[in-house]
Amino acid sequence: MKIKILKPVTAIAIAMLFTACNNVPAAVVTDTVPEIQNTTTSAPAEITTVGETTVDEAMFEGKEYRLPATYETLPNLKDVFADDFYLGTAINTFQLEEGTDTYNLALKHFNIFTTENEMKPVYVNPSEGVFDFAAPDKFIAFGDANPDAILRGHTLVWHSQAPEWWFKGSGEGGRATSDELMARMTEYINTTVGRYKGKIKYWDVVNEAFSDSTGQLRQLHEQSYWAPIIGDLDGDGDEYDFIEQAFYLAREADPDAKLIINDYNLEQDPRKLNGFYDAVKSMLEQGVPIDGVGIQAHIQLEWPSIINFKMAIEKLATLKEINPDLIIQVTELDVSMYAWSDQSLTVDMNAENETKLAVRYADLFDMFREEAAKGNLETVVMWGFYDGMSWLNDYPIPGRTNHPLLFDRDLIAKPAFWGVVDRTKIDAAVEEE
Ligand code: G3I
Repeated sequence: MKIKILKPVTAIAIAMLFTACNNVPAAVVTDTVPEIQNTTTSAPAEITTVGETTVDEAMFEGKEYRLPATYETLPNLKDVFADDFYLGTAINTFQLEEGTDTYNLALKHFNIFTTENEMKPVYVNPSEGVFDFAAPDKFIAFGDANPDAILRGHTLVWHSQAPEWWFKGSGEGGRATSDELMARMTEYINTTVGRYKGKIKYWDVVNEAFSDSTGQLRQLHEQSYWAPIIGDLDGDGDEYDFIEQAFYLAREADPDAKLIINDYNLEQDPRKLNGFYDAVKSMLEQGVPIDGVGIQAHIQLEWPSIINFKMAIEKLATLKEINPDLIIQVTELDVSMYAWSDQSLTVDMNAENETKLAVRYADLFDMFREEAAKGNLETVVMWGFYDGMSWLNDYPIPGRTNHPLLFDRDLIAKPAFWGVVDRTKIDAAVEEE
């Protein structure tokens, strides 16, 4: 399949549509998380017509993608995939104020939610003896108010966004001893998972434990103290013990929660995938209560190939030989417009690039559907729902603006949204070869 540069007439039509939509009550656009104003859920008067074409007619001409995310006739993403997988997003509690556009958008399009930052230990347990559950409690209240919303807790054991005090203590060089770190992990998991027993359906119990360069456990030079401090508790020759203990503790604290081991680059780096796979296999064989694996999927427009991603899912699915109920989730999907090595600060989101992103998303979701049909994929969670909130703004290049999600900075459905919902609607801009 080859992307065709849009014919001038199509480009002009899209440009007109963009202009026509400029009157939609808009969010304040910033590179950080913008405050979205509350807007109507029906089409504002200014966009009920596009030239001579009504919005509903435009739907059938592939132009409907400039509709607000909360517009009534915009398909609900979660319903499009109701027979395939749960569809979710990362979210923050400031986006869950009842009645706001972000609240309405979240409930219209998604049925599973992950806290982007607020359940990370650095915020919940900032110092010894101090637990702050204010934000997580709001997340739970959102779940209580919306019983169909499934909640994911993110995350318990991670080298990043963990409080520094956990790793300090009476050991060599002022570092915590194995016993001290184990005691902190135990207290944290008991307190947090116990508090939300029956409320959080999935926990990312261990996050990013594996090294990019070796595929083995992350070590000190990769900013992780977990394996180096906790070590080989059971003397079986590996240092998976901090992972194993975390899973046992989480299982005990909430026997019904589904416990996930989560990592990135699994879909694009065979070394990482193989190391992760071997470790999970070994732990499953020893009876460690791992219920599922999470493939983060922070991918790029041109990398990895869909087939590589698919092969990663299928490799992980072979672990069902050990645990037939093993869950596979895509946990943090976004598609950067930049290659990893690209230093640019901006990319022109012209019709060609919007279309490329739409095709990328269409291909991905076609593959996800196939894997779900084989029983290999249970959930897809996007790492955010509109471009302005994405961590990929400013990272890895400070000052960068990115466009990796399905709704733009004004909460307008992008062509990528239509690629996911119905790829025939983007066909006008794509030439099949
Ligand atoms: O809360 C402080 C604020 O008080 C301060 O003024 C501001 C100044 O920079 O920083 C704020 O904290 C930021 C935090 O997000 C909340 O916005 C941190 O600097 C920033 O580093 C942090 O980034 C988060 C990142 O994890 C941390 O590693 C991203 O939002 C979040 O999307 C990202 O999520 C991770 C997943 O948890 C794990 N997988 C990778 C994924 C993307 O990095």
